[in-house]
Amino acid sequence: MEMVQEIGQGSRAGSLRSMAWRLFEARDSAWAQHAFKSAVEDVVRASGAKHVLEVGGGRSPLFSREEIDALQVRYACNDISEAELARAPAYVDKVCFDIAGEVSLVDAYDLIFSTMVFEHVSSGARAYRNVFQLLKPGGVAINFHPVLFSPPFVANLLLPEAVSRKVLRAFFPPQRVDSAPKFPARYSWCYAHRRMERKLKGVGFSDALIVPFYGHVYFRSIPVLRDLDQRLTRWAERRDFRPLASYAVTLVRK
Ligand SMILES: C[S@@+](CC[C@H](N)C(=O)[O-])C[C@H]1O[C@@H](n2cnc3c(N)ncnc32)[C@H](O)[C@@H]1O
Repeated sequence: MEMVQEIGQGSRAGSLRSMAWRLFEARDSAWAQHAFKSAVEDVVRASGAKHVLEVGGGRSPLFSREEIDALQVRYACNDISEAELARAPAYVDKVCFDIAGEVSLVDAYDLIFSTMVFEHVSSGARAYRNVFQLLKPGGVAINFHPVLFSPPFVANLLLPEAVSRKVLRAFFPPQRVDSAPKFPARYSWCYAHRRMERKLKGVGFSDALIVPFYGHVYFRSIPVLRDLDQRLTRWAERRDFRPLASYAVTLVRK
C-alpha cells in the first residue's frame, strides 16, 4: 500500500494517477490485463479526448464499434503492417506507419494507447519521441507492455527467433500461435523502474508514470521452473522490485 501511495507524488503525476486510478486496485498482471481497457476508457472520459489513436492495433483493435460510439471519439488504428491493417474492421481509420520511424503528423491526437506493441519497436526512444509529436498539447498516452528483466522476456530476447517460436508453440495452444504471426520482440525502453519515468520526461513529456504488475503464465507447463519463478515474482512483488515486474502500464502526458 505504501508503494501505491508513493506512486504519483506531485500534482501532475497525481493527475495521471487519478485518471488511471483503476490500475492501482491490484498489482497482479491478471488484473492489469483485465482492467487496461476500462482504464483507457477512464482516461478518455477524464481527459475529454475526442481523437484517439491505437498504435499497433493491427487486425484486432481494442475497442468495438459500439464501445467507440459510446465513448464518442474518432478512432484511428495504426500498424506497421499493411497486411495486419487490411484485416482490421472498417469502422476504424487505418493509418499505416512505423511508430519508431518517420512520422509526419503533428499535434494530431488527444489520446494514444497500445497493448503489447512497444516491445516490438526498433527504438523505444524514437517511438516515444513520435508519440510526443503526435499528441496534442496536454494529450496523454497509455501503453501496456512487458517488462525487462522478467525471466520469460529475457529468454525471448536472448533466444534465437526460431527457438523462441518453437518454445511458444510447445507451451501455448496451436490456434493461438497460428492465428497471428509472432512479431520479433526487442524490449527497447520496456522498463518499469523510476529512472525510466525520468527518461520519458527527458523526451519532453510534462508527466510520466509507470505502473508495474507482477506475474505471468509463460512457465505454467514447466513445474520446477514455474514454482521457482513464482517465488521470485512474489518476492519482487512484495518489495516492488521493478526490474522483475512482468508487465507495466506506462502513462505520459505532453
Ligand atoms: C503482438 S501484436 C499486438 C496486437 C494488438 N495490439 C493486441 O494486443 O492484440 C503487435 C502489433 O504491433 C504491430 N507493430 C509492431 N511494430 C510496430 C511498429 N514499429 N509500429 C506500429 N505497429 C507495430 C504489429 O504489426 C502487430 O500488429
